[in-house]
Amino acid sequence: MTILITGGAGFIGSHCCVTFLEAGHDVVVLDNLTNANSESIERLKEITGRNIIFEHADIRDQDALELILRQHRCEAVIHFAGLKAVGESTQAPLLYYDNNVAGTVRLLSAMDNCGVRDLVFSSSATVYGDPKFLPLTEEHPLSAVNPYGRSKLIIEEMLRDLSASDPKWRFAILRYFNPVGAHESGLIGEDPLGIPNNLMPFIAQVATGRRENLSIFGNDYDTHDGTGVRDYIHVTDLVDGHLRAYEALKTRRKGDGCFAVNLGTGTGYSVLDMVRAFERASNKKIEYEFAPRRFGDVAACFAETSLAERIIGWKAQKGLDAMCRDTWNWVCKNPNGFSQPAE
Ligand code: NAD
Ligand code: UFG
Repeated sequence: MTILITGGAGFIGSHCCVTFLEAGHDVVVLDNLTNANSESIERLKEITGRNIIFEHADIRDQDALELILRQHRCEAVIHFAGLKAVGESTQAPLLYYDNNVAGTVRLLSAMDNCGVRDLVFSSSATVYGDPKFLPLTEEHPLSAVNPYGRSKLIIEEMLRDLSASDPKWRFAILRYFNPVGAHESGLIGEDPLGIPNNLMPFIAQVATGRRENLSIFGNDYDTHDGTGVRDYIHVTDLVDGHLRAYEALKTRRKGDGCFAVNLGTGTGYSVLDMVRAFERASNKKIEYEFAPRRFGDVAACFAETSLAERIIGWKAQKGLDAMCRDTWNWVCKNPNGFSQPAE
């Protein structure tokens, strides 16, 4: 079975390629490399010992998509391609609607023309907006608080509409909580451009000495230690959820082909919990200072995970120590990410 993986050169997509290849599928990676380095593809070949077909293309180019789907006889799509920086999305909303929403319209149109009707979509816990209750169940009301989140919500609605319009479509919508960690080989991992926005890569860069200290955004939240609480999930668990979702999708009956599930562990950790866990894993002191709350952040966000267990038979396995250990292994082996040489 050949599967097209859009955004497959990026952080989560590259890990997904390993999981699908190891499960016996063939994969074709499509990426425009706006937020990835083609070195990740070379590393994938090293990890899996398999040839990886890489198509340098943009999901907004429908002709290219149709050519690729036909040429490689793809039977399903795992769709990671998208821009994901919340702050940037508030500055450049049209870029996000064009890249994420219009790009997905082009992808679905190309799939339709080529008779490919199964898709797994990377959504986000951000579609729940400000949590009204915790843990977040899939029934929690949906809302968007920034253009990035709105792009995910629009795509989700589009998939539900499309599925209702024609039972031939089957969609698995996966709402990620906070993906962290790296492949245990240390050959692939998260490689943010510039100053990291997210907590884990920032802590990792403090541990390697690339950044002086961490600013902890807020210590007066209503949480166990006053710092923000999130549901961190190991990226290899997360991509395992994609394989399970894909397998579940293939058994769905016509007309019942669209489902959305949370991919999280169900456990929330605070920023200070993360700092301490990373100190244990790295044996380094993480210097930090308290800073004002970051605009748009919520106090706590974590998942109810029982629906994923029921619908796709998946449950996260790895704990915080493994997440920190594998992130540390990745940054130690690649202090400058995929760009060589090391600093
Ligand atoms: P990433 O930036 O590492 O990967 C996305 C990939 O898509 C990149 O390789 C990028 O070059 C590619 N891409 C972007 N626009 C494209 C286009 N128009 N055509 C072709 N390729 C394009 O990000 P990631 O963390 O691996 O995230 C993957 C997906 O998961 C994204 O859709 C993101 O919104 C979603 N997601 C991520 C997180 C997270 O915290 N990492 C949380 C929730 C959801
Ligand atoms: N934080 C700091 N200092 C930093 C970075 C983050 O204190 O330098 C704190 C934040 O305030 C928050 C926690 O660490 O309390 C986690 O922040 P992240 O930026 O790592 O993650 P978010 O939960 O804010 O957002 C992530 C993705 C979003 C996605 C959301 C839900 O970046 O795209 O998870 O899935 F929408």
